[in-house]
Amino acid sequence: MADRYLNFTGTAPGRFLTRRLGLPQPAPLRRWSAEHPSLDGPLLRLTAGLSALKGLDEALARTGLEPGTERPAAVVLDATGVADVGALAEVHAALHPVVRSVAPGGRIVVLGSAPSATDHHQAAVQQGLEGFVRSLGKEAGRGRTVTLVRLVRTDSAVAAESTLRFLLSPKSAYVSGQVIEVGETAGEPATDPARPLDGRTALVTGAARGIGASVAETLARDGAHVVVLDIPSAQDELAQLAERLGGTALPLDITADDAGERITAALPEGATGLDVLVHNAGITRDRRLANMPAERWSPVLDVNLGAVLRTTDALLSSGTLNRGGAIVATASIAGIAGNVGQTNYAASKAGIIGLVRSLAPRALAEHGVTVNAVAPGFIETRMTAAVPLFIREAGRRMNSLAQGGLPVDVAETTAWFADPGSGSVNGQVVRVCGQSLLGA
Ligand SMILES: NC(=O)c1ccc[n+]([C@@H]2O[C@H](COP(=O)([O-])OP(=O)(O)OC[C@H]3O[C@@H](n4cnc5c(N)ncnc54)[C@H](O)[C@@H]3O)[C@@H](O)[C@H]2O)c1
Repeated sequence: MADRYLNFTGTAPGRFLTRRLGLPQPAPLRRWSAEHPSLDGPLLRLTAGLSALKGLDEALARTGLEPGTERPAAVVLDATGVADVGALAEVHAALHPVVRSVAPGGRIVVLGSAPSATDHHQAAVQQGLEGFVRSLGKEAGRGRTVTLVRLVRTDSAVAAESTLRFLLSPKSAYVSGQVIEVGETAGEPATDPARPLDGRTALVTGAARGIGASVAETLARDGAHVVVLDIPSAQDELAQLAERLGGTALPLDITADDAGERITAALPEGATGLDVLVHNAGITRDRRLANMPAERWSPVLDVNLGAVLRTTDALLSSGTLNRGGAIVATASIAGIAGNVGQTNYAASKAGIIGLVRSLAPRALAEHGVTVNAVAPGFIETRMTAAVPLFIREAGRRMNSLAQGGLPVDVAETTAWFADPGSGSVNGQVVRVCGQSLLGA
């Protein structure tokens, strides 16, 4: 469903009228394309506090952005060494003079460190950065985004490289107001950063349409052989997609008891297991709890959570998931904020967050596999097109970017998690929601 309001505010009379009426001013967001893969403008690097971070300039150089101060498209502030209230003032001093000059659609990335369990002054100000970043995200406007990346290791920027490459590119257009922790384990850097999934196999559930189809397309763009899975009645769309992407179609209801074995059996000849597992299939059966019969409760919990748990367990225990691989599950901001009529859906999506937090450290230690989740906000798909007009309009506008996201925004975030260079990103739940007010 097209966002007509966004199109209207893109015209001169539309801009004039909506400004006069004090209505939201969504800026058109630019997504990644092969012709236009970078942000439009230079990168400005700043520091606050006493930083011990090494290798940041080298990591930033590999984003392809040129250093510069004039109308920066990206500002990276190293605040890893901010450890007391005095040093926090340096954050203000660094960003206050430049924030207005950031190009429309630009990025502000603050690098912080993990709040300390033993130094409450450091913990206070590092937590303070979270409030700072979330507030600046709400103020930034004109399609600018603001993110906090917390480094567990503050002496080397190597582990953060794939995350910086994602955040400082058009691929993260709809990710704002987020806190992302980068752990110690650096992933293997991809041999070809343009095709980090070359030679790898990815499975995407619910891939016949919407977000799943976009995820499959994006992972194929990054070099993966994609196995696209959806219910048997979606077989035709699935076959067309698989053909277009040079992948494999797997018509299968993911709630089948033997789904894990069927997936393993469907892997293409020559594939030595699965490298990327994307749990995207999901359904809604909305009703207020008082009106919700068990028939509307159970399928939602089974598709969105039960099947995710079963297939994850089956593919990990059978050794189908290769070391260096990634599991990406799909939560939702409804699982964070709750939603009227969605006790079933929100329980299933909050369950995904619980799964990620519990399994991630063990899966990495025992299987060498990362486990993360995307939590989409309002994304323009058939699922949200079915939402009644006024609720739909509220969902679209009630975020810092004043518009809905596109399936490709969730797909790009998934591709960043799936990148072998993102081995240091584990146990994260990243909202792709334009900094939605819901659950903020
Ligand atoms: N669209 C949004 O705004 C939004 C917001 C938050 C979360 N999400 C989540 O993102 C995911 C994709 O959403 P979408 O908007 O693309 O939905 P969609 O309804 O357009 O697509 C979902 C796909 O999953 C498939 N599917 C459903 N049950 C299945 C089963 N048992 N086995 C295999 N495939 C099955 C469907 O056939 C469909 O192709 C879902 O998990 C959804 O909950 C979406």
